[in-house]
This record gives sequence, C-alpha cells and structure tokens, in this order.
Amino acid sequence: MNPALQNPELQKKVDNLLARMSLDQKIGQMTQAERMTCTPEQLKQYHLGSILSGGGSTPGENRPADWVDMNDAYWAASLEEDADHLAIPLIYGVDAIHGNNNVLGATVFPHNIGLGATNDPDLLNSIAQVTAREILATGVEWTFAPTLAVARDNHWGRVYESYSEDPEIVRSYAGKFVEGLQADLGDDSVVACVKHWVGDGGTNNGIDQGETTLSLNELERTHMSPYYPALEAGVLTVMVSFNSWNGDKCHGHQALVTDVLKGQLKFDGFVVSDWDGIDYLAEDYYQAVALGVNSGIDMFMVPENWQTFIQHLRKHVELGTVPLSRIDDAVRRILLVKHACGLFDKPRPSQRKWSNHASFGSDEHRAVAREAVQKSLVLLKNDGNLLPLQRKSRILVAGKNADNRGHQCGGFTVAWQGTDGNEFIEGGTSLWEGIQSLSPTAVLSEDGSVAEASPENFDCAIVVIGERPYAEGMGDIRMNNDVIVEAGSQIKGSMKVLEPYGHTLELAELHPEDLATIQRITEQGIPCVVVLISGRTLLINKELEQSTAFVAAWLPGSEGQGVADVLFGDANFQGKLAFSWPKKARPPINRGDKDYDPLFPYGYGLTCQRT
Ligand code: BGC
Repeated sequence: MNPALQNPELQKKVDNLLARMSLDQKIGQMTQAERMTCTPEQLKQYHLGSILSGGGSTPGENRPADWVDMNDAYWAASLEEDADHLAIPLIYGVDAIHGNNNVLGATVFPHNIGLGATNDPDLLNSIAQVTAREILATGVEWTFAPTLAVARDNHWGRVYESYSEDPEIVRSYAGKFVEGLQADLGDDSVVACVKHWVGDGGTNNGIDQGETTLSLNELERTHMSPYYPALEAGVLTVMVSFNSWNGDKCHGHQALVTDVLKGQLKFDGFVVSDWDGIDYLAEDYYQAVALGVNSGIDMFMVPENWQTFIQHLRKHVELGTVPLSRIDDAVRRILLVKHACGLFDKPRPSQRKWSNHASFGSDEHRAVAREAVQKSLVLLKNDGNLLPLQRKSRILVAGKNADNRGHQCGGFTVAWQGTDGNEFIEGGTSLWEGIQSLSPTAVLSEDGSVAEASPENFDCAIVVIGERPYAEGMGDIRMNNDVIVEAGSQIKGSMKVLEPYGHTLELAELHPEDLATIQRITEQGIPCVVVLISGRTLLINKELEQSTAFVAAWLPGSEGQGVADVLFGDANFQGKLAFSWPKKARPPINRGDKDYDPLFPYGYGLTCQRT
C-alpha cells in the first residue's frame, strides 16, 4: 500500500467528489483518448479523465512550448465547472521511455538494453530524474515507463525495452527508477507507470502481443518479481500486457489484475489498459468492454474508439453486467492518484515550475546520458589491444550507422518507429561527430564502397554497423508464420500481428551490407574496430571473425560522444552483458539454463588499459 494514497484527508476529498459524480462523469474519468481524436471541447463534453500521445503523436512544431500550449488547453477544459461538468484535472500520458523521446531537442538516453549493461541502479535514478524534468518541461505529468519486461527471446521486437533477460538487474532498477520519476510527488515529479503486467518478456517465440506459457511459479519468479520493488517505491500506475498467460489474455484476467496485483500485492494506484488492448478479448467489442472492466482495469486506453467504449460501458452498468461498485473502485483510484500527485493543486501547465525550462536538452542533462552511454558499452573482443585508439592514428570511419543519430536512437524516438539520419535528432552527436571531436584527422567514408580504404592512408578503421530503428511487433524476427498460427491457436481472443523486421537473427543475412563494408576494409589489411548498434543480441559470428575489436553499443541515444570517449580511452569500458550472447538462433538462451552454451555469457565484458 502506498502511504500517499492512504492519507485519510485525501481519501475524504475523493469520496466527496465521487459522491457528486454522475455515471457519465465516472465513465469519462475511466476513458483515455489519443490527442488526435479529441479536442479540449470534447474532453469536457465527455468528461474524459486522460489524454495520451501515441508514439510520435506531437503537437505544432513539436517544441516544448507547443506541448505546454496543448496541455494548457486540455487542462483549462478539464477544469471548467458548470451545471453539467465537474472540475477534475486531466492527466496527460506519454511514452517517455528513454528520455522525453517524442520531443525535438530532448536528451535521448540509451534504450533499456544498454542501461542494463551498466548495472548501475544509482545511474538509473539520475536518468529518471532528468527524464522527469524533460517531461515536465512539456507540461506533461505521466509517463508509461519504466518497462519491467524480462525479455527471454531475442526474436522479440521489444527486447531493447528490457533491461535484462534476468530479473535480478530489472529488480535492482525498478524501485530506483520509479523514485527518480515520482520523487516526493511535488513539483519535480511525474507519475510513473510500470508495464506490461505481466509476462510480456516471456512471450513464446518472441512474438509481440503473443502468448506466454509458464507455470505460476515461473511467472512470479521471473516476470512478477521486478514489480515488487516498484510497488514498494509507491508506483502510482500499472499498464496491462497485450500478452496472454497460458491462453488467457491479461486484459481480461481478473486473477492477475484484481486478485494478485490489487489483492495480494496491495496495489492501490490505478491500472491502465494498453493501446486498444481490450479489443482482442472478444469478437464483439461490447463483450470486450465488460471483460476488460470486470477484470479490474481502471483506465482504458481507447485511443480512437473512445466514444463507443463510453456507450458500451454505460449500457453495461445500466444492465448490471458491470457492477457500479467496479466503476466506483476504478474512479476512486484514478482520483486518488490525481490528488496524490498534486494535480488538483497545480496551476495550469504553463505556470508550473519546470514548464518550458531551459534545462530541457541542456548540456547538464546530456552529461548524464553521455555517462550512461560510456557505461553501457560492452567490449567483446580486443585483439592485440587495438583499443583504446590513439587520437593521432589515421582513422577511417565507415558503416551505415556511423553518422546516423536516428539509427543510434532506435524506435520510440520522435516517431514511433524511430527516424533515419541526423535531421530529427536535434542536439547530441552521432558516433562520427563524437569521433571527429576527439580525432580531428579521422575521415568519414560516406558510402559502403569505402573506396578510401588503403593501408597507406589509414592505420585502422571504426565500422559502425547494425540494425535500423523499429518498435514493438515491427521489430520481431521470425522465419515464417507457423509460430503465429501456433500462438493464435493457444489464445482465447485474437492477436494483432505486425509485419516483422526480418526472418533471421544472423546479421550477415539480415544486413549483408555490414559484412561487405567490413570485408572491403580488412581485405586491405586495415584492422577494424566494429561497433554494433542493435536492440538485441544478434548472431555476429562472421562480423566478429573479421574484426580486431568488437563493441556492443546497443541503442545509445543522442549522445554518440559517449561511444567515442570510450574508444579513445577517455573513459573505461565497464559494461557487462545483461543478455547472454547466443551462438545460434534457437533455442533462446538465458542465464541459468540447462546446457547453457552462449557465445559470450551473461556478465561478460572485457576492459582495456587506458592510455
Ligand atoms: C505499447 C505501450 C505504449 C502504448 C502507448 C502500446 O502500443 O504497447 O507500451 O505505452 O502503446 O503509446
């Protein structure tokens, strides 16, 4: 139980307000629409409790000021009081999952997979604080983060949202991150949302929104245990998983949502559904609404269908297929959270302490991200101590991800599926820009032909390779659709399946251009430092063999400088694998497995002597 929510005075205020609310007003509080589908006038008319921005859904020119203006308008509408409307502040939610990543000019942190490799809970706390500031700069008060998924299969498109394949690191971060975001629930705080409850990281065959088949024991040990420290730290909201557990969708799972989360674990904040998450519970949307509400979900992310949701829920309450007590429980929880985080007392967004603050995207904030990048790099190979590099060496820089801030940031950056090139990631440095600042004589090869590569001109090369951005199911890897058919047959309800990223984890097949670039350089006898940008551990045997040194840089975010710092020895390599590096695609490999035989084990990471 969260003492902030148990405060008797606050509870009294909420009870009084609840007693004054009509059914429409209550149902409105439980409804969350996407900003593109709902004007401030509609928010008032339907009494909506919340608005969200889906990934990449941004107002105006996408500057903090545009966000603050938008939120001012919603806030003002929510607080108009008249005969038909009660003044209840809305809560605005975004996916600030690696910094306030939707907004131009934000500090973009490494995705969680990189943060896992730092094994540094205090750093995570600092990152959360900076992230909170940059969210507050835009007048927003709620982030759908941190993700506590423990990803067990690197075919899954969301592996990079996970800190580790093992619950240990995730547990050590969960509370610290929530504390960093929520602080003292005062002016420096945003509301955190741990997700996705529960078992998303265990999805069979790495299929996004698929089926997780596990014993209760295993579910608790691996996937629920990271939530305990977050609950302990007072996390105010929890998002439900798209996945099913042993065939039953989490969005309709009364045992998981009501009995375990709210009952056994005494969670007294509110539970939010995922994007259209209830739609897949039943063929008939009317049925799906009742299943979702009766499972214990309190707020519904119904980005587009919110008017239909409202009509259906009203009918259910009138007919008694959803009890009024369930509605009251949901609204009470939502109002308690809004009170506890001070929303009822805060001035309009534009008048809040951090709104439009100059610290947004500042050097001070970027320094925290740069430190995170430095600590996240895992050195897998360093033959002949090629690293650290000498600044005066004649260095050729090549590879498609060398000068591409969009790619190094990955998905969920400015656009849902991320961006390509340097244009949309304002501020920060590409890896090339970082390298150039430390070694001004370095030369960038602009295309994959690397025609410049000759041993007369270069002592060594840095080749930056890897994946392009993706998010959610569009990052899945699968051979064919058999696994989808199989998963679908195990699930009650339906599945939403997106076109996958590719058909193999083998980098040489997925991105043959990378190996070709490396080979053109090594054929000339130039030793290569290969830097891999990726949201997961890929099969890299061929690239590794061609390289003299090999660095896993994950998805480092906007501060490519942090990679350069370590390559040149200004900071040490200290990252350790939080994911086992596989030799082959199947079966997925995780720390503690029987017959554990990785290419590099969990915890692996070389260091090198500084110059
Ligand atoms: C994702 C969530 C995210 C939500 C809102 C969903 O598709 O699964 O993680 O918070 O969208 O953007």
